Amino acid sequence: MQLIKNCLGQSHEIVDMVVKEGDTVVDATAGNGNDTVFLAKLVGEKGKVYAFDIQEMALQKTREKLVSQGLTQRVELIRDGHENMSKYISEPVSVVMFNLGYLPGEIIIFVPGFRLLVVPLKLQ
Ligand SMILES: C[S@@+](CC[C@H](N)C(=O)[O-])C[C@H]1O[C@@H](n2cnc3c(N)ncnc32)[C@H](O)[C@@H]1O
Repeated sequence: MQLIKNCLGQSHEIVDMVVKEGDTVVDATAGNGNDTVFLAKLVGEKGKVYAFDIQEMALQKTREKLVSQGLTQRVELIRDGHENMSKYISEPVSVVMFNLGYLPGEIIIFVPGFRLLVVPLKLQ
């Protein structure tokens, strides 16, 4: 368990070192919205976060967190698989974060271009 906590915490530290204000970034698995909120704060008012999830419930939870923290303007929530992200994103992105715990079914990852890919895998 401690290994998993360290893995998730370290992924945020690495992303923090790479992302600058005004960047465009991707949360490939929005889930409960924690990583989306983290990324939205990092990119600042002029930045942009694309957050994907295939579950409406996940996007609802993420939206609630963003609303409560006044971060909705810089985030686009997309109900689709991250394997389709090239349909929605045409500009360069500096980071794509994947948090692949609790996945339903198989894992499909397709990232057309990125400076840093972070994949904190939960071991279960
Ligand atoms: C562990 S949760 C993500 C946790 C989240 N990053 C957070 O900070 O709370 C994994 C999420 O991946 C989503 N997911 C699974 N397959 C996906 C896919 N192909 N594209 C986008 N999201 C996917 C699931 O619906 C689930 O909500």
